[in-house]
Amino acid sequence: MTSDTPKIPTTTLRPGVEIPLLGLGTWQAPPEDAYKAVRTALDLGYRHIDTARAYDNEEGVGRAIADSGLDRSEIFLTTKLPPDEVDDAPRIIDESLAKLGLEHLDLWLVHWPPNKEARPDVWEHVIAAQQAGKTRAIGVSNYSVAQIDELTSATGVTPSINQIPWSPADYDADLVAAHRERDVVLEGYSPFKRTNLDDAVLAEIAAAHGVTPTQVVLRWHLDTGVVAIPKSVNPDRIAANLDVTGFQLTEDEIARVSALEA
Ligand SMILES: NC(=O)c1ccc[n+]([C@@H]2O[C@H](COP(=O)([O-])OP(=O)(O)OC[C@H]3O[C@@H](n4cnc5c(N)ncnc54)[C@H](OP(=O)(O)O)[C@@H]3O)[C@@H](O)[C@H]2O)c1
Repeated sequence: MTSDTPKIPTTTLRPGVEIPLLGLGTWQAPPEDAYKAVRTALDLGYRHIDTARAYDNEEGVGRAIADSGLDRSEIFLTTKLPPDEVDDAPRIIDESLAKLGLEHLDLWLVHWPPNKEARPDVWEHVIAAQQAGKTRAIGVSNYSVAQIDELTSATGVTPSINQIPWSPADYDADLVAAHRERDVVLEGYSPFKRTNLDDAVLAEIAAAHGVTPTQVVLRWHLDTGVVAIPKSVNPDRIAANLDVTGFQLTEDEIARVSALEA
């Protein structure tokens, strides 16, 4: 990390865990590709990596973290509990930790509501893992607000974050407000796949700042306080996706991006 390394803003997850608003996604990156991508990302200044047991690359991600030479405390690592293995949650987190070569996760998510149900009993296992010090923060992915409320009323513990599909076309002010009211951080996935990157409004805003449409999409996440985890295994694109700290969108630009269609 040099003085030129981008400084990525963070937000705070209950109970006081800082998460960088930009991280590297690793879905569909086989272990060796994930290893190379994570090494490149950490060298460039990324400090947040998103993986999942279902991605079958935890071993490659963990090896890259180990070989990076960075202190463990500098890196924010998320992995996820697959919905079809929730009944084995205590074993699954131990296996994830072993594959990653880590003593604790920073964030453990229930990857999907099992059989479309909230399952407070599963959430109890996730809470227990946090209490045992196996993960610093806990959350969910692909949950509805009603399902989050069900977990809260059954256990007294609200997920600190919900990772959901998110892009300008998905923007929903009511959904954003519902998460904020509950102090649940919104984390978006598939920022590019869900966006028409040829959109004329994105092109115009990108040109105004001398950046690309993909960089506008990521900056829009940062400027609206939503965590973004773009995936790339290409070193140039990994670098471009991090290079979003040199400009900011105006209020008007944020509103125009939020109004885009898919
Ligand atoms: N919780 C869930 O259920 C869930 C579901 C989906 C995803 N996720 C997480 O979110 C991450 C991101 O989502 P995603 O992988 O679905 O989609 P994404 O990040 O929107 O898009 C990834 C695709 O865009 C390409 N790309 C990356 N940077 C680019 C750039 N600057 N310009 C043009 N193309 C670029 C990548 O190709 P190259 O690799 O060749 O650059 C890849 O084909 C995942 O990797 C995963 O960690 C979570």
